Amino acid sequence: MALTQLVSEEEIKEQRFFTQRVRAVTHMFDRIPLAYTHSYGCQQNVSDGEKINGMLAEMGYGFTDNPDEADFILYNTCAVRENAENRVFGNLGALKHLKNRNPDLIIAVCGCMVQQGHIADRIKKTFPFVDLVFGTHVLHKFPEYLYSIFAEDKRVFMIPESDGVICEGIPVKRDSDFKASVPIMYGCNNFCTYCIVPYVRGRERSRAPEEIISEVKGLIEKGYREILLLGQNVNSYGKDGSLDFKGLLKELDSLEGEFKISFMTSHPKDCTTELIDTIADSKHISWHLHLPVQSGSNRILKLMNRHYDVEKYLSLVDYARKRIPDIQLTTDIIVGFPSETYEDFRETLKLMERVKYDSAFTFIYSKRSGTKAAEMDDPVSEEEKGKWFRELLEVQGKAGDEAYKKYVGKTLRVLCEGRGRTDESLYTGKSRQNIIVDFNGNEQHIGKFVDVKITKALNWALVGEINE
Ligand code: 5AD
Ligand code: SF4
Repeated sequence: MALTQLVSEEEIKEQRFFTQRVRAVTHMFDRIPLAYTHSYGCQQNVSDGEKINGMLAEMGYGFTDNPDEADFILYNTCAVRENAENRVFGNLGALKHLKNRNPDLIIAVCGCMVQQGHIADRIKKTFPFVDLVFGTHVLHKFPEYLYSIFAEDKRVFMIPESDGVICEGIPVKRDSDFKASVPIMYGCNNFCTYCIVPYVRGRERSRAPEEIISEVKGLIEKGYREILLLGQNVNSYGKDGSLDFKGLLKELDSLEGEFKISFMTSHPKDCTTELIDTIADSKHISWHLHLPVQSGSNRILKLMNRHYDVEKYLSLVDYARKRIPDIQLTTDIIVGFPSETYEDFRETLKLMERVKYDSAFTFIYSKRSGTKAAEMDDPVSEEEKGKWFRELLEVQGKAGDEAYKKYVGKTLRVLCEGRGRTDESLYTGKSRQNIIVDFNGNEQHIGKFVDVKITKALNWALVGEINE
């Protein structure tokens, strides 16, 4: 089964041929043509964006942050909530005047949002100046589509239905030269009833461990210091293969060098005490578990099709805190799922007070057409949900205020990432727990590990002084 999902050598060769054909076209421009690309949504999508940029670079494009001067504009979209989609529609509308000014401008839209048929139709009808729309399953065919726009001068819409493929060897233009995202699996089989992802990203499929290990090895040799392993549910990595997620982590942890391995996202139904032990016993794995709980009500968890209850979730949290006392625990919460009552919501507050997350990503439920939850009765008003949401932020704010105080006076090893977030004169990085730490660094520290003595705790970051 795994083999048939792999894009064949011939197909990859074919795309290399189209890459060269586009390159021949871009060579004829009187200057290097510029691409403006933007990826919305999660890290997986941002990682796809790095592949798109890699393909563009090979096709002869340079890059710009300014859409006004671009010859090619691409939005790589997200569908997870309605506001993500509305933002894309708004931004697309604003491109009309650029196309009027420069009819040779090519405008493309890809990603999760357009994988939904009704959205692709809407773009076709409402945004006639969009030249190219392609879905998540044909990302690797981007050179072919771009070439056909140059050659045939007509609009291209490619949104095939598919369970998804794995394509190795797509060029990647990474956004950072010390932090790298590495997808280990694609797609999702969980069908949480609120979630569009399984419909737009296809079935779960894992990359071969040899491919991942050799990519990570190469990155570390090139000087990358943080590797972020990506998957919708990393705990089900390699279900049909020889190496499971713990095994993969152990292999990567045994590589030589100073580097950090992080991963996201862990589904609580598949998270095990063995995984926590693997983190605890590791040399390089971040002491950070992002464990989205979504709700503290067992009734709502059941309606969400999450396959765990609050008791199982709390036992994982307790085990993680016991094995790794300095672990950072973060979560995602949805407020206002269909039929949720204030009583259910209070259960979520209770859970948050009990767990005391370091931080939480909180969302108001957004109806996604085609999902099971979209068919459920949803009687609570948006206004009421907004009130609950603010209550939740308040409870989380208090937990966050307390969470980082224990680090004051301690020294943490920090990977410096750039200029400070609390203060422009400071530098910033992340600790092994993935907590943001601002400190008195300099340009030379960027991309390196430094020891920082913590002097102050804010509710979203730590501040400290470098120990040299
Ligand atoms: N409405 C609101 N939030 C959602 N998420 C996923 N789907 C929806 C939806 N329909 C949230 C979940 C998930 C995070 C990535 O986005 O909390 O963990
Ligand atoms: Fe990522 Fe999901 Fe948004 Fe797609 S829909 S970009 S998988 S968050």
